[in-house]
Amino acid sequence: MKPANSNRRPPLIQCVDVAVGYGKPVLQHVNLEIRHGEIVALLGGSGCGKSTLLRSLSGLTPPIAGDVRLFGESFYDLDPEQQNALRHRLGVAFQQEALFSSMTIEDNVALPLRELTRLPSALIREMVRMRLELVGIGNLARRMPANISGGQRKRAALARASILDPEVIFCDEPTAGLDPVVAAEVDDTLVRFREALGSTIVVVSHELESIRATADRAIMFAKGSVVATGTIDELVHSGDETVHQFFHARTG
Ligand SMILES: Nc1ncnc2c1ncn2[C@@H]1O[C@H](COP(=O)(O)OP(=O)(O)O)[C@@H](O)[C@H]1O
Ligand SMILES: [Mg+2]
Repeated sequence: MKPANSNRRPPLIQCVDVAVGYGKPVLQHVNLEIRHGEIVALLGGSGCGKSTLLRSLSGLTPPIAGDVRLFGESFYDLDPEQQNALRHRLGVAFQQEALFSSMTIEDNVALPLRELTRLPSALIREMVRMRLELVGIGNLARRMPANISGGQRKRAALARASILDPEVIFCDEPTAGLDPVVAAEVDDTLVRFREALGSTIVVVSHELESIRATADRAIMFAKGSVVATGTIDELVHSGDETVHQFFHARTG
């Protein structure tokens, strides 16, 4: 499933001794690598800093210290124009899905294409139609965000985050607050993205079932830094006390 040459390229995302926070660090000494075609879950208790780190990894907020490398470049050392060019290769779907409430689903999804490309409107409509089909809400194009379910809005947000065919998609808790059946549909959408578009996906998640269904690898944060990295099975069987508690408190 991963491209055959994925290990010869530099990591798509790399943190070298990164600290993030608000004045004071929330996470520090973060070292991690995410490679092309991987689906990686970021795990950890509420408030440990996952969303804060995701903002730095997705080019939105500079770290307090350290080097965030995106596509092999030290992102926050680049000039604004270069940063913008790289941002177009990233898709971000945040915890608050932030669809514009006054626009139909298809107009929401079309927005990045209308703002950032000069493609003719007939082509944009067709691209949006195909992407909505891919995420499984092709029949809801003309609805307003208020008139679809929470899970459908998550999928619409994924459609918009991915409409420019980004090389990497960041999703913050895409299944939070959804019932298990709907959550499984959203998970399935993420896996489909990788199959259809070859996307690399970085997903913050709490739900073990979701992580098992989607992620190749997880990075777990606690006590202000990275406490474990590995496949889900490796983490489930970890001897580390914090990691053990995280999984076994949830699996009962
Ligand atoms: N805008 C902000 N200003 C100050 N502190 C913040 C802000 N956003 C989050 N925090 C704090 O930073 C810590 C990490 O938050 P966050 O990254 O949202 O955690 P997580 O996503 O893992 O639940 C928490 O203690 C939170 O209260
Ligand atoms: Mg969060």
